[in-house]
Amino acid sequence: MREPRLTVSLLVTNIGELVTWDAERPILHDAAFVVEGGRITWFGARTQAPSADAQRDVAGAAVIPGFVDSHSHLVFAGDRSAEFEARMTGEPYAAGGIRTTVAATRAATDEQLAANVARHVTEMHAQGTTTVEIKSGYGLTVHDEARSLAIAKQFTDETTFLGAHVVPDDTDIAAYVDLVTGPMLERCAPHARWIDVFCEDGAFGADETRAVLEAGIAAGLQPRIHASQLGPGPGVQLAVGLGAAAADHCTYLTDADVDALAGSTTVAGLLPGVEFSTRHPYPDARRLIDAGVTVALATDCNPGSSYTSSMAFCISVAVRDMGMSPREALWSATLGGATSLRRDDIGRLTVGARADFSVLNAPSYVHLAYRPGVPLVLSTWKDGRQLV
Ligand code: NIG
Ligand code: FE
Repeated sequence: MREPRLTVSLLVTNIGELVTWDAERPILHDAAFVVEGGRITWFGARTQAPSADAQRDVAGAAVIPGFVDSHSHLVFAGDRSAEFEARMTGEPYAAGGIRTTVAATRAATDEQLAANVARHVTEMHAQGTTTVEIKSGYGLTVHDEARSLAIAKQFTDETTFLGAHVVPDDTDIAAYVDLVTGPMLERCAPHARWIDVFCEDGAFGADETRAVLEAGIAAGLQPRIHASQLGPGPGVQLAVGLGAAAADHCTYLTDADVDALAGSTTVAGLLPGVEFSTRHPYPDARRLIDAGVTVALATDCNPGSSYTSSMAFCISVAVRDMGMSPREALWSATLGGATSLRRDDIGRLTVGARADFSVLNAPSYVHLAYRPGVPLVLSTWKDGRQLV
């Protein structure tokens, strides 16, 4: 009997526009690529493509790397549509709204929380996202943070311990930081790759943020941060000083913050869904890019400040209102997100990278911004397998 073949190669061909982010050939036309063992093994001109076991003709469509959504809070229960409605009629956004979701999350079963994550991850796949980072942060007890991360881990390797999201009601901040850096960290670290803090007035200050991130680093986690979302603050400088992978939000930056980011390996994660839904001004992506800062775009999908799972929506806003070109915005939503997660195997379609991609119902990636709100993703593939 013949041995069954373990790997089947797939040729994806007749690609009208292929975005690879390869250094020499970042964007090709009339292109093709080959996938074997879940990885890209060849890409180039359609007419020069090698043969493969199977073939997929995409009829002139654009193919892009799968979106890398480097910031989300998908482990939650309930919604806050009433709070959104109040904001749209004049109420300001307040970090304290997080406590509403904490109460709903604590009351939910593991099964309910997992089903909610699954629903949102499926929604993301349908919109071209192939990697998502998921934070805890709506549990705020040892038990609820640990189960939030165990559930998140069922869906992604990019899990982030955000016990320091807000201080729970009736709790002293110093006592809470002791809990987060002690027993909570000990229970959560095995389920997490990253540690994060909401460094903001109304949440955690500079000293508390440093204490939490340093404890996380000592426990083997890598730091990232929520910084300067609602006003200027110490978060960006702290993140850079600690070598954090990302400083996310970056809505209210000082010149010193921009300089610090520019001279660092910390990626600035911009989350335009937040400003859309809190009516804050959008972050100035142009200022960051011109200063030499690496920028990622992400959804921040959560029920309070940004309830979108659509990376294409973020791209549209970034192009329309944050000074990004369509190409910069796509880069930030793919390879920028990968850089923010310190991953070199995703966010690109070069030889050796994971075959994570989506086929668009459009001849060019430019349509992502040009046709806002239109569902342009025809199919999404992860590790060479079709998800949607
Ligand atoms: O990233 N900023 C802190 N945390 C979330 C908001 C969470 C909420 O409002 O529920 C954010 O915007
Ligand atoms: Fe967030």
